Amino acid sequence: MPFEGTTAIVTGGASGLGLAITEALVARGTKVAVFDVQAELLDTEVARLREGGATVNGYVVDVSDRFLVEAAVERVRADLGPVLILVNNAGIVQFGKFSEITDELWERVMAINLRGPFLCTRTVLPDMKAASWGRIVNISSSSAQGGEAYMSAYVSSKTGLIGLTKSLALELGPKGITVNTIPPSMVVTPMLEKSIAGGSFYDSLEHFVSITPVRRAGRPEDIANATVFLCEDASSYITGQVLGVNGGRKT
Ligand SMILES: NC(=O)c1ccc[n+]([C@@H]2O[C@H](COP(=O)([O-])OP(=O)(O)OC[C@H]3O[C@@H](n4cnc5c(N)ncnc54)[C@H](O)[C@@H]3O)[C@@H](O)[C@H]2O)c1
Repeated sequence: MPFEGTTAIVTGGASGLGLAITEALVARGTKVAVFDVQAELLDTEVARLREGGATVNGYVVDVSDRFLVEAAVERVRADLGPVLILVNNAGIVQFGKFSEITDELWERVMAINLRGPFLCTRTVLPDMKAASWGRIVNISSSSAQGGEAYMSAYVSSKTGLIGLTKSLALELGPKGITVNTIPPSMVVTPMLEKSIAGGSFYDSLEHFVSITPVRRAGRPEDIANATVFLCEDASSYITGQVLGVNGGRKT
């Protein structure tokens, strides 16, 4: 099954890392369906990419809602064909003391960051199984590799995503489907900029850069390039891996 010409779903693809991943996939000739909740931004970005000749469609979908996900995947199949690449990227961040995490906040973080990937994966899997080829890339977080104070709900959800990746890789390997995860560190995106502006980080970006071996913050393209690599035919022997793309900060 050639990588070019296949259909991918990128969740949270209207902004930040998901947008860069979408751009990188369409540049390789992949048809991309972008799932996002920001309808206006989604329209704007999809129109811009189409002007450049990309085959890309936007779908307003909350990935935590089973019925919306199932309906949207049905539409993608009709519009673009079977889905053989899935990038579970949509996510929300959470900051605050553990004692201040409400039931609602905990459920919301888990629903978007962990149930979302579960639902999207479950829904597209029949296409991958039928083709005996599939690529799933889960965007987790380097915070899950060592824990992070004041981010317990977020880190728990992203650690769960790493566990889902490893378990699914074992189950789906014999079917020609690889499952890997990229845990980004600090990549300059609207999410990071909002977090810094809101005073949620106790560390400055400058300090982070000074303790990062390659001496810069991450760029969305860094994550996008690694995602494309994991989706290529040539990566068929790489599965269940946590691929750090973090300037050497966490190994
Ligand atoms: N930027 C970083 O430094 C960093 C670090 C570690 C992990 N991550 C992870 O990378 C992923 C992308 O983050 P980003 O920095 O690009 O953030 P971002 O906020 O710029 O983009 C996230 C996108 O997800 C969408 N989204 C949110 N909830 C959704 C839902 N329920 N259904 C569908 N779409 C939804 C948002 O509308 C947005 O377009 C997230 O999962 C995040 O946790 C980012």
